[in-house]
Amino acid sequence: MTATETKKTRFEQVRREHEEFKGMIAGIREFVEQPRPDIKDAEGHLWAVNLSKLLVGLHDKLVGHFHHEEQGGLFETLAIREPGSIRQIELLRGEHGEILGQVRELMSGALKYSEGTPGDDPHLRQRVTAVLDRLGAHEIAETELMQMVEYRDLGTGD
Ligand SMILES: [Fe+2]
Repeated sequence: MTATETKKTRFEQVRREHEEFKGMIAGIREFVEQPRPDIKDAEGHLWAVNLSKLLVGLHDKLVGHFHHEEQGGLFETLAIREPGSIRQIELLRGEHGEILGQVRELMSGALKYSEGTPGDDPHLRQRVTAVLDRLGAHEIAETELMQMVEYRDLGTGD
């Protein structure tokens, strides 16, 4: 396989995974946009359990995706091909751990809510949306960097 083919395959897989995340993010977004039941209702507990499940699923998938991006050479390829964007590339790499940490905080927030104890986080839904926004922007930035490399290749006939 040539270097160009390797890069193409690598980019395609990352892009495919990004597409899958779009659906997952939209599903969670839709869930938290619904009003949440009162904490004292039985549905309140069910709501928290369902949110936890969605977040655990997201976290699980993100761990695999981030690992693949970090170990599969995505960032190295981007850094070599777009040296002017090295600072941004490093920031994106650093964001992986931060985003995972934020998702875990949301998971524990959802579990806490399911305890039905007073003092539950009244802003849990907004916090979920904020993390989803950050994740979406993160993936878009990665996609744009891959596109920059590809456009450059088209220009040079590579
Ligand atoms: Fe990504």
